[in-house]
Amino acid sequence: MYRTVLASVATLLLAALPAIAADYPDKKQADIAKNGTYVGSDSCVTCHGDIHANWEKTRHTQKARKGPAMGKDFSSSVYKWVQRDWDKLDSHMILDQKDKTTNYVTVRKYKLEEVGYVVGQIRKQRYAVYYDGSPMEAYLQTTKDGGISWTIDKSKTVQYSGNKERAGWKFLTLEMKPKDGEFNKNSYGEFYSWQERCIGCHTTGFDVKAWTKAKADFVAGKRADLKDIFVADTRVGCESCHGPGAVHAKDPSKANIINPTKITDVEARKMVCEQCHTRTAKNLHHKGANDLRGYRIGDKYSDHAEYTRPAWGKGNRQTSIDGKGRRDHQMDMDIRLSATIKGAHSAHAKMACFDCHDSHNIGTGKASKVLKLSAKDTCAKCHGDKAEAYLKVLDGSKGWAKYGYGDWANEGGRAYPRQHMFNKDAQGRSYGVTPDKYHWALKEAGDTKKQDDWSAIWPWEKEAFEKKGMKVAIGATPWK
Ligand code: HEC
Ligand code: HEC
Ligand code: HEC
Ligand code: HEC
Ligand code: HEC
Ligand code: HEC
Repeated sequence: MYRTVLASVATLLLAALPAIAADYPDKKQADIAKNGTYVGSDSCVTCHGDIHANWEKTRHTQKARKGPAMGKDFSSSVYKWVQRDWDKLDSHMILDQKDKTTNYVTVRKYKLEEVGYVVGQIRKQRYAVYYDGSPMEAYLQTTKDGGISWTIDKSKTVQYSGNKERAGWKFLTLEMKPKDGEFNKNSYGEFYSWQERCIGCHTTGFDVKAWTKAKADFVAGKRADLKDIFVADTRVGCESCHGPGAVHAKDPSKANIINPTKITDVEARKMVCEQCHTRTAKNLHHKGANDLRGYRIGDKYSDHAEYTRPAWGKGNRQTSIDGKGRRDHQMDMDIRLSATIKGAHSAHAKMACFDCHDSHNIGTGKASKVLKLSAKDTCAKCHGDKAEAYLKVLDGSKGWAKYGYGDWANEGGRAYPRQHMFNKDAQGRSYGVTPDKYHWALKEAGDTKKQDDWSAIWPWEKEAFEKKGMKVAIGATPWK
């Protein structure tokens, strides 16, 4: 009784304060996060040389590198066999979308010397070449599986009328894997430019306002080109996790830079990594964008984007029928499901990635170097001698049928160590939610008896959907 009263008083007090005050140790940091200027990681090297040296070896610095067209030596950034075999590869450029299943691609192939940015290095690599929006003769590229794989029809050409909206750094149809000779034989199909689509998750401090203005100016003929990428750092730099550092780098103190572990608001804390380690359905403010461009530490996910939709009971490429993630960089959604499975106070639902991961040593290639402790000790802190057995939940594929195109209706998830669903069934297998915990939202003014009128939603989005006036149902098949 006392507890309930105290809790509601506390809630009232919190609600009365401006949202920002709850997010940070102090107001000054909130101002810096919102309004500060990004300066890039090399401004931090003089005083934090050791951290900088560690960070330089991490995968966070290998995401996007300047290529030969930007005057950079590419001998270490481009896979060796790609350099060797370039002339034999299908290096066409993806120009634009014709309709949902058809793209225009260039007839001509591009030289390695024309590549301006190389994106990725560990598991796959993609290449971007500058395009100015001009009309040209083109091939058509089509997909039969909703965009997973694409085939170029080289038997005929068509006239593409050009589109200045699509100008910028554009992807080639190549997607290469780390092993010699291995590439995605079904060519890549991303038709938006790198700046329009996904730059925010692979760089630091992308200036979305400057980009939007530059694009409008270019389309109106008031600007020469769209080669600028408007970022403070081409890598996932210090400031993606510590906030803008211009003031701190000039006049350093603990008060003018953010240490993520000191953020008290659970949501703001989790978002430090989840701004990128997530899979969005779409950005709410920028058509075509799939990142949380413009995110500043302290923002909420819902300020910028919508999560990719689950398909409870049906499964899809992104999630299995119980909600387990199926693709990379969606560990956040696995972890968030814990609150539905284990209740609002779930220890796992509250954890931020950096509670287990070592932010300055992300994937330096050495075993378990992504964590602060060994994998076993990470779990043993709370689970003692059960740790080893519990670690099996990081293998979401074990015990379940394989999934693939057209065969999504099972519980198969990602192989070790990529599943982050901290829940198991009676057999110790990684498991998501049971049908009685599915969440659905009724699309406005729909027929409650028709399946098509209900769309699956993540449980943590319930409140946001209700705020929009949508009816939310919990449990399997509400239309029955
Ligand atoms: C001129 C030297 C200098 C530069 C440049 C510098 N720092 Fe610092 N930084 C410091 C000092 C000194 C402290 C510790 C202050 C204290 O103990 O009161 C610090 C502390 C920090 C902390 C810890 C804050 C805390 O609350 O624990 C972070 C994070 C940090 N710096 C990040 C950065 C980043 C990111 C950059 C580059 C944008 C940067 N620093 C550039 C000197 C510098
Ligand atoms: C991927 C996110 C991320 C990146 C990138 C990152 N940091 Fe950190 N940093 C953190 C987190 C989280 C902490 C809190 C330490 C912990 O987790 O225990 C931290 C802590 C610190 C501290 C406090 C001292 C310490 O070691 O705990 C300093 C100083 C610092 N970082 C500087 C930097 C600098 C300089 C860079 C770039 C060269 C950088 N960080 C890059 C996330 C990051
Ligand atoms: C600005 C976007 C961004 C932020 C913020 C960010 N990451 Fe990353 N992270 C990436 C990208 C892009 C990669 C791709 C690296 C790869 O696999 O080549 C990556 C890679 C990783 C990997 C290695 C993946 C692998 O395949 O080995 C780990 C682990 C990781 N990040 C953890 C974190 C943690 C923990 C934080 C927060 C402290 C964080 N990241 C913040 C974008 C980000
Ligand atoms: C919501 C953030 C986000 C968006 C949007 C995004 N990525 Fe990533 N990307 C990541 C993260 C995080 C990883 C690391 C995956 C992991 O290990 O979980 C990654 C991994 C990659 C890799 C493999 C990296 C390597 O070193 O092998 C490539 C290549 C890549 N992304 C390219 C792209 C391209 C091209 C786009 C846009 C068409 C894009 N990404 C959009 C966050 C994002
Ligand atoms: C409860 C601790 C814990 C939390 C919280 C956690 N992870 Fe992990 N993560 C692990 C463990 C353990 C591994 C397996 C490491 C190993 O054995 O190499 C792992 C592996 C990974 C890998 C694969 C790394 C590789 O080298 O293949 C990525 C990527 C990753 N985590 C990202 C994240 C992200 C993003 C978050 C936050 C949304 C997160 N993790 C939260 C414990 C955690
Ligand atoms: C900070 C403490 C803490 C850490 C660290 C931690 N856990 Fe947990 N874990 C819990 C708590 C508490 C529960 C009970 C449910 C809840 O609160 O979410 C739990 C529940 C679980 C469950 C569900 C158990 C069941 O019976 O269904 C699994 C599986 C699990 N954790 C795996 C892991 C793994 C794997 C790691 C290491 C990568 C880990 N945990 C690290 C605190 C922790």
